[in-house]
Amino acid sequence: MKFLGNNSSRREYLAWREWKLNPPIPLKKVRLKNHDTLEDNEKQSILSQAGWHNVAAFSVCNPAKFSTNDLKILAQQLGLQMPDSNLYANEDAISEIKVVDKSRRGEYIPYTDKAMGWHTDGYYNSKDKTIRAFILYCQQDAATGGANQLLDPELAYIHIYDNNPSYINALMQPDTLTIPATIENDRLVRPEQKSPVFSTDPYTGMLHMRYTQRKTHIEWKADKLTQKALSLLRDLLDSNSDSILNIRLNPGEGLVCNNVLHNRSVFSNSEKQKRLIFRVRYYDRLPTWPIDI
Ligand SMILES: [Fe+2]
Repeated sequence: MKFLGNNSSRREYLAWREWKLNPPIPLKKVRLKNHDTLEDNEKQSILSQAGWHNVAAFSVCNPAKFSTNDLKILAQQLGLQMPDSNLYANEDAISEIKVVDKSRRGEYIPYTDKAMGWHTDGYYNSKDKTIRAFILYCQQDAATGGANQLLDPELAYIHIYDNNPSYINALMQPDTLTIPATIENDRLVRPEQKSPVFSTDPYTGMLHMRYTQRKTHIEWKADKLTQKALSLLRDLLDSNSDSILNIRLNPGEGLVCNNVLHNRSVFSNSEKQKRLIFRVRYYDRLPTWPIDI
């Protein structure tokens, strides 16, 4: 059922809420027999789960041979066609997230062993580069730590709406979140970006969320209602809510999602076990099953 946005009536919201909170299928990792040629039941299982939960987990049969090119092919079979590239990605827009020497990528947190706070990917992107989905695939897990928590933005929306519907209005203001312009050596690297936390994506009609817990280079709207709404969201993210998924990817396992809220715990590598995650972000949202590709 489509997300109806904040223009929906209370009755329509309650119907959507009822639908959302009663998924007929549980989350269950899908074991892929051959990642080059997904079977219909594998595609159906991943996309149906993602249709309800905005996330699905998978594992491949021969992880030792799985490459970034295999991930690209796998994603294409799931209907993800428009990857978002970035400075540290390869030619297929796939980033190898691992600990790298500080001198190469500065203190860019994804490339350290530090914890990462809750966020959605691309919260700083311009609207024409909205990130609607991403995939994480574990090539190698860390010796210890490196787990992820995930929260479906639709469940966060329901939690906040049920507490106070006017908090949702506050978080839908077009200037709730401001990322100041990035200027380096007198050159504009990235212009200022203002966005709502929650919005209805004009291309898909679905809920889109932009959020980060980072404390620097970010400004939040200062009015009381917005601050209270953000405080409620923070409390939810810091809680033991049943809505929060705890996942630690093992080698050969991955997850595909509609850009859900997520974080990462601190980790430590050993000489033999150095964490390596393939990550690719997409402008597409995962299609609903059945897909015609
Ligand atoms: Fe992320």
